[in-house]
Order: sequence, then structure tokens, then C-alpha cells
Amino acid sequence: MVSRVIPVDPFDLVIFGGTGDLARRKILPALFRRFRDGQMPEDARIIGAARKDQDADAYRQSVREAFAEFLRPSEQGDPAMEAFLDHLDYLPIDAMGDGGWSELKGKMRDDVPQAFYFSVAPSLFGALAERLHTHGIAREDARIVVEKPFGRDLGSAQALNATLAAHFDETQIYRIDHYLGKETVQNLMAVRFGNVLFEPLWNAQYVDHVQITVAEEVGVGGRGAYYDKSGAMRDMVQNHLMQLLCLTAMEPPNRFEPDAVRDEKLKVIRALDPVAPADIVRGQYNGAKGASYLEDAEASDSRTESYIAIKLHIANWRWHGTPFYLRTGKRLKARASEIVVHFKETPHSIFDEDAGRRANVLSIRLQPDEGIDLRVTIKEPGPGGMRLVDVPLDMTFAEALGPDAENVPDAYERLIMDVIRGNQTLFMRGDEVEAAWAWTDPIIAGWRDRNDKPVTYEAGSSGPEEALMLMHRDGRRWREIA
Ligand code: BG6
Repeated sequence: MVSRVIPVDPFDLVIFGGTGDLARRKILPALFRRFRDGQMPEDARIIGAARKDQDADAYRQSVREAFAEFLRPSEQGDPAMEAFLDHLDYLPIDAMGDGGWSELKGKMRDDVPQAFYFSVAPSLFGALAERLHTHGIAREDARIVVEKPFGRDLGSAQALNATLAAHFDETQIYRIDHYLGKETVQNLMAVRFGNVLFEPLWNAQYVDHVQITVAEEVGVGGRGAYYDKSGAMRDMVQNHLMQLLCLTAMEPPNRFEPDAVRDEKLKVIRALDPVAPADIVRGQYNGAKGASYLEDAEASDSRTESYIAIKLHIANWRWHGTPFYLRTGKRLKARASEIVVHFKETPHSIFDEDAGRRANVLSIRLQPDEGIDLRVTIKEPGPGGMRLVDVPLDMTFAEALGPDAENVPDAYERLIMDVIRGNQTLFMRGDEVEAAWAWTDPIIAGWRDRNDKPVTYEAGSSGPEEALMLMHRDGRRWREIA
């Protein structure tokens, strides 16, 4: 498969927090790959900015070391790496003070797009936004990129939005949810809106239920201090799973354009019914085969959930009566993320009872083994009577992409290039984030008021028994996590 790489315009990108974990692990490797593939032009400049007092050479050396750790084995030793490092510059900057800002102004060019990546704690967003203005650095068309967590409840998200809005217009703000940059997540939109086949069936009349799973094998060890204050609800559901739900359930936007798409997503979030406590299962892993959550989080008496399963209803005509089941958890038996649409059985079977009944299932696999699979019913091959079986119409990207499959772009590659192109379609708008918190807050408040305690599940399992029951009581089953 031939990949088409369209170079972006030259740009100045400043990464605040340029020495931090996200920059080393994700942002800089993503930029390197776009450079290697010819998308980043020769006169693009990336300026790392952080508190550390070092020069550009020392910064380049630290990025070299980060690449040795975080680039894929097949990318190590790529001759493009040194050429990429030539595009890097560095400035020590004090986010809360005045040091370094006039030097930064001196480095910015007037005639290329400028982007400022706030890869720092949200408590610094306000200080950075303000200084970019008081020092006359950010132009009216400058873009800022901010990471999750975007608030920890509605109030804090509103405060953060207000802080940014004091200096930047909404059209300049790129709130990242990296799930939107994943190749298969974008494919969900291509499948829904690029085919005539699915959309007529994409509603409560034909869809029995939808399952959205983001299962992780890793625990919270190493980041327990952050995680224990968040839990799966804030860390994954309010953002990543909510975005997957929106793209699955939204009405077709009239264009694949920022506000057209985001208006439709917002309507889904606003149409969510409140969730009854009986429709939620919170779990915490215990450590029969390794460290327990409490050990990983270094918290002896934590009630934070590392797993959550929720049954949701969307109160609109399209989805009336079709439940959406969401689940996500740490230390599960496999890393497996997918959106699975279970269609209803045919309304009437013309075959004998012996033939059996089957229903179509469309699964969109986000990771690993990205791909799309549709199970269709056929006659069991061979002589004998009519027996129905389902077989996969399988489109794993590995086969479709051939040798390129290993290089399915990382979400950050797509998203950072979209910032440079000035395309906000795959970024969250302020009102979307607030609406998601407005839905999340009462659920979390309910746990607090009831002093709710998560149930336990075995590390390395499929999650708590209670989550299986959430499905069983409706006569349904989760897909195997594999
Ligand atoms: C992050 C969460 O946003 O997403 C992590 O904070 C989680 O807890 C991660 O592990 C999952 O991302 P991915 O791309 O590995 O599925």
C-alpha cells in the first residue's frame, strides 16, 4: 500500500516541559517519525523549554538518549535521527517567573505557524498562557496544545477553560485526547460514514447492544500517586471511553470538520441518561499473581477503582432501548481495546430450529492487531441439512497494509501534524470536556456519599465477577478479552 505523505508548512513548535516524560516518550518520537517520512519540512523548528539550565547541544544529547529508550528497535540507528536533532533547539524558561521569555521571543519567526505545547502540570497552564501574551510572543493565530487531565471535575475544568480563554480563542486551543489520534478510531468514522452498508442499520431497531472495552495488562505501579487520586473513571472513562462512545453513537456530521463533528459528539454526551448505581461495577485488583493495587498505589486503605464497567443509555430516538456497555481496567488478562456492535437476530427465521440462530457482530479493534471484523452468517459448508454458522469477514490492517503494518502511526504523529495544519477535528472542544464532567461528577459524588468500596478482582483476570453479572442479568455476555 502506498502511503501519501503531504508535507506541512514550516513551523515553530515550542514544547514546554520539553525534558519531561511525555516529550521524551511520545511527542519527540512522533515528530521524528513525521520528519523521517518527509512530512516535516527542512525549516521546521522545535524548541524544547523547561526549567533545566542547559544548552541546545545538551538537550539534543538527552533526546538522543530518549530515542535509544523509546523508538522501536527497527528505528534505532536510523540515519534520519541526526538530521532530525538538528531541528531541535532549547531554552531554559521559568514558567512562573520572567527568565527566558525575551530569549524565546527572539527565537520565534513572524512568518510561520507557531504552536506551543503545554506538556506540563495543568497548574502551570495559566502562567504559561499569560506570559506568552505579556511578553508579546503568541500571535493571534498561535495554537496551544494541552494534555489531559483536563480538570478533575466540572468546576476545575470550567476554571481551566476560563484561564485559557483569558488569552486564547477557542479556535486556538487543541485539547488532546490521544485516543482520537489512533488509526482505528479514525477508521470507525470511515467505516460509518464512508459506507452505505452500515449507517441504515446503525440504530436501536437493528443494534442489540454495543460493547466498548479498553483492557490493559499494566498496573498502576510507578504512577500510583497520580492514579490513586483519579481512578479509572477520571483517568479513562470521562475522556477516552467517552470519546469512543461519542464516535460510535453520534449522528452523521454534515462535514468532517471541527465544529460539525464536535457538535454531534456533544449531543451524545448531553443525551446520556444518569446511571443507576446498580449499572456500575467498580473493581480493584488484588495480587495473587503479583503486586496488588494497594501495593502498586502505595496506599493501604484506598477505595480508588482500577476497573470500571458501566451500562449506559442514550436518551434519543436513534438509541432508545439499546444499551452501551463500557469497561476498562488495569492488570487484566490482556491488552485489548475494541468497539463491538452486536446486531439483532433476524426478525423471523425461515430455517428449522436445528439450523440455529446467529447475529451479525461488527468489531473494530483499536489495539493491538488493529483491524475490523464483521461476522456474517452462512450455511455450514458440506452435505447434510441447513446449519448456520458465522464466519469472519476480516480486515486486519496487518494484511491490508502489508509490510507497513508494523508502522501504524502513533496517535501523536497524526495529532501534532493536525495542530500544525490548524485542524481541530480530532481535538476536544471546551464544552465537550465540560459536558463529560457534568455527566461524571454525580456518579463520583454518589460513590463518595455512599462510601462505596470497589469489589476486588484477580490481577490477570477478565475483571470482577460482578461485571460479568452486569451482562448476564440482561441475557448478554462480554466478549472474551484476548
Ligand atoms: C492514559 C491513561 O491517558 O491512557 C493511562 O492516563 C492509560 O492510565 C493510557 O494507561 C492508555 O493509553 P494507550 O494508548 O496505551 O491505550
